[in-house]
Amino acid sequence: RTARFTLDPAFTVGPVDPRLFGSFVEHLGRCVYTGVFEPGHPTADADGIRGDVLELVRELGVTAVRYPGGNFVSGYRWEDSVGPVEDRPRRLDLAWRSTETNRFGLSEYIAFLRKVGPQAEPMMAVNLGTRGVAEALQLQEYANHPGGTALSDLRVEHGDKDPFGIRLWCLGNEMDGPWQTGHKTAEEYGRIAAETARAMRQIDPGVQLVVCGSSGRSMATFAEWEATVLQETYDLVDHISLHAYYEPLDGDVDSFLASAVDMETFIEDVVATCDHVGARLKSRKKINLSFDEWNVWYMSRTEEHVGALDWPEAPRLLEDNYSVMDAVVFGSLLIALLRHADRVTVACLAQLVNVIAPIMTEPGGPAWRQTTFFPFAQASKYGRGEVLDVRVDSPTYATERYGEADLLHATAVRGEDGSVTVFAVNRSRTQPLPLDVALNGLGPASVVEHSVLADADPDARNTLAEPERVVPHAAEGTTLDGGRLTALLEPLSWNVIRLA
Ligand code: AHR
Repeated sequence: RTARFTLDPAFTVGPVDPRLFGSFVEHLGRCVYTGVFEPGHPTADADGIRGDVLELVRELGVTAVRYPGGNFVSGYRWEDSVGPVEDRPRRLDLAWRSTETNRFGLSEYIAFLRKVGPQAEPMMAVNLGTRGVAEALQLQEYANHPGGTALSDLRVEHGDKDPFGIRLWCLGNEMDGPWQTGHKTAEEYGRIAAETARAMRQIDPGVQLVVCGSSGRSMATFAEWEATVLQETYDLVDHISLHAYYEPLDGDVDSFLASAVDMETFIEDVVATCDHVGARLKSRKKINLSFDEWNVWYMSRTEEHVGALDWPEAPRLLEDNYSVMDAVVFGSLLIALLRHADRVTVACLAQLVNVIAPIMTEPGGPAWRQTTFFPFAQASKYGRGEVLDVRVDSPTYATERYGEADLLHATAVRGEDGSVTVFAVNRSRTQPLPLDVALNGLGPASVVEHSVLADADPDARNTLAEPERVVPHAAEGTTLDGGRLTALLEPLSWNVIRLA
């Protein structure tokens, strides 16, 4: 059976905030060390930033880059990460049982983003696990105050004359999680988040703040946590965070392929909770969503490994190697974010390099693109503009976790120039899916490109030995005729259909 939907410029979801294409650099494994930063690497510049990685980060099209964690931030001492490198202390990183050398710190992070280009924006987390209001204020003053105070002058003395201009801040990380150093109850966290937000706004009323929501929809405290935290912080913050990672659980591939069903439900549940608190407070303000950790992550493999570590420097951790199937699920997660662009205004792919990442590196060796690199780069490049409301009429298939799920998952974005890009996933492992899209009152008259990520072997991956085994290819037979788009979506495929 054919899957269908109609596009009409009168029916839209909302504009895409460029921050939807954010990513995340945590001091974890080799994300920073031998990932972004590797002095002595043949492509490294004078600051130790790997040129090959920098090129790929630009190509990926990332915007906001969250830093320095993650779980790492709950032990982070910002002052260890600034000033002369030779004076910086080595510290135990409790989150990842690793040794943090602090060779790469705040100044290096900002320098890295400036090298990526103007589209890259800092998104800095403060430590509300082992620290509190005072340290958050010190960091904010050091980073953003122009000069003439002890901490801003210290920054200048350290060689950074210009303030870092960090606008977007996270108030801690996953504070609902028992694994978090300094884990708190919703009441405890709501109070410290509110007081930190209030004080940070005393320095700068224009800061944009993300308060911690749940670290997953399956947390026992989910929704109650959000309601309690927002009751304390509603007027003081702009966003609430969501985190979600997906993997095939118990070998259930069909449910894994429908992971975006869970992601969309999660988003809608958090929107409902935010709006419920807003109603209770009789507030006209809306809290937006920062989906600041999302990805496919084979987490069940990781947990055993971290506990056994004996404080190494930059160990190989969470280095998932993604298959074509993983990339199709990943693309579907991107579609879920775009479909909720009216409320999800920040999202960070966790993470950027080596650690559950679209970019991989070998120390002293090359950098290459994982399969997940392609959907992200294409969505960031072509998914800018206004999201059109897509309601699919699709054949379904049975899943253990989510019941009947649509085989087609899709969204469409209309660019400022009137072009339209359809992003679509066929979840069927065996069958091609015929697609029929009616374009009402939209300008495009021809198909510019139909790019597909699919493979006869859904387990195919890019590796050090074969870094370009998987790349997108052009589909054949896609047509736009008399306002009717028709295509055949390959089994297990991510599709980008550009119309102009
Ligand atoms: O991204 C990896 C980890 O996942 C982060 O440190 C943490 O916030 C989450 O649990």
